Amino acid sequence: MTSATSKRRAAEAALAEVKDGQILGLGTGSTVAIFIELLGEKIKKEGWKILGVPTSYQSAYLAAENGIQLTTLDEHPVLDLAVDGADELDKRLNLIKGGGAALTREKIVDSSAKRFVVIADGAKLVERLGTKTPVPIEVLPVARRTVAKRIGLLGGKPKLRDAGDRKDGPLITDNGNLIIDADFGAIDDPQALEFVLKRIPGVVEAGLFINLAHTAYIGSEKGVKRIDRRY
Ligand code: A5P
Repeated sequence: MTSATSKRRAAEAALAEVKDGQILGLGTGSTVAIFIELLGEKIKKEGWKILGVPTSYQSAYLAAENGIQLTTLDEHPVLDLAVDGADELDKRLNLIKGGGAALTREKIVDSSAKRFVVIADGAKLVERLGTKTPVPIEVLPVARRTVAKRIGLLGGKPKLRDAGDRKDGPLITDNGNLIIDADFGAIDDPQALEFVLKRIPGVVEAGLFINLAHTAYIGSEKGVKRIDRRY
């Protein structure tokens, strides 16, 4: 069982929810990339009319390559369904997102959908958020140091995300901002943390998605597990 198979199973489960004529939010990441490819195949085979609102250059380009017509929240501010990945999720369907630096547009798009479905492999499921991954925070460049200081005062360890091998210096988001990855360890109260992080001047968005997801499909060797949010 590879992680690719788990991701595909989750993507297939989300695709089974899609209906002809819907307007979809298209998340970002490797699991959503599989979903977009499967959706493209379905559209071609069934002649469906689907419109997609992308959350990044990645999902916009992939959608275009797979024959999915794009639209915007200006034209369609309410979406039927958003499908997105996650870096971590707990049993209440609270999420950490932003491993691909797309958290701000993801939160806008995912929260604009009548239904938001998360697709992930089993490795993403944790007892408490923050166990395996830091919280990505999109920050205006001018506030890099002041935000980092405030994160430290809140008990987090801030690290400016580097662009990696293909560019020297920091990663620049699709919105022209920076990402600070803030390690808080296992988080007791993700909702309270999201609230205080968003109050820091210069923070554009925090990668804590609280009470947004309705359902998660978790792919594994046994098949797909569905988790619904308890209200
Ligand atoms: C993008 O910024 C992230 O929120 C992704 O949705 C998340 O990292 C999941 O990506 P994978 O499906 O590649 O694990």
